[in-house]
Amino acid sequence: MKVFIIYDSKYGNTKNVAERILEGIKQVEGIEVEISYATEVDPKIITSYDALIIGAPNHMASPSLTMKKFVDKLDELNLNAKNVAVFGTYSGRARVTDRAVKKMEKIVGKTLPNLNLLQPSLSVKVKGVTGPVAGGELPKCLDFGKRIGNKLKNPKI
Ligand SMILES: Cc1cc2nc3c(=O)[nH]c(=O)nc-3n(C[C@H](O)[C@H](O)[C@H](O)COP(=O)(O)O)c2cc1C
Repeated sequence: MKVFIIYDSKYGNTKNVAERILEGIKQVEGIEVEISYATEVDPKIITSYDALIIGAPNHMASPSLTMKKFVDKLDELNLNAKNVAVFGTYSGRARVTDRAVKKMEKIVGKTLPNLNLLQPSLSVKVKGVTGPVAGGELPKCLDFGKRIGNKLKNPKI
């Protein structure tokens, strides 16, 4: 099983979250994980991966433009990875602002019609626009990663 985590991050918080998710996935034996900033990866590389974890900061109640552009390119590839999970960071009120990850789910779903969402999407609160990640949020990221790893290993759970 090979997993690719792709993120966008302006101030480093979504990167931090991505790295905690990676740590969580690595706690599950037998799963290989790669991580990259969205603009530094050739989307063609990810065709050989079994799962894709996509994360972006909330910009104006939507996933960041960089990530939307990346996801738009995915339909040109015949992706192996129909297993996807989505995460995002936000700094406003949760009830309103975690809509950005829901939007990302929708965009990814349109691009990859046979999508299997591995986990409900994760929204992570940061303090103000520049962060850091709010207290108590990082353990959730580790747990999210672990649940993704376990799900890939045992799809029936
Ligand atoms: C241009 C811009 C627009 C933003 N719009 C929102 C927003 O609509 N709702 C919100 O909760 N946070 C918003 N934020 C705060 C970001 O979500 C926050 O900067 C981000 O989660 C930090 O992640 P990063 O360090 O990975 O960039 C905005 C930030 C920027 C720079």
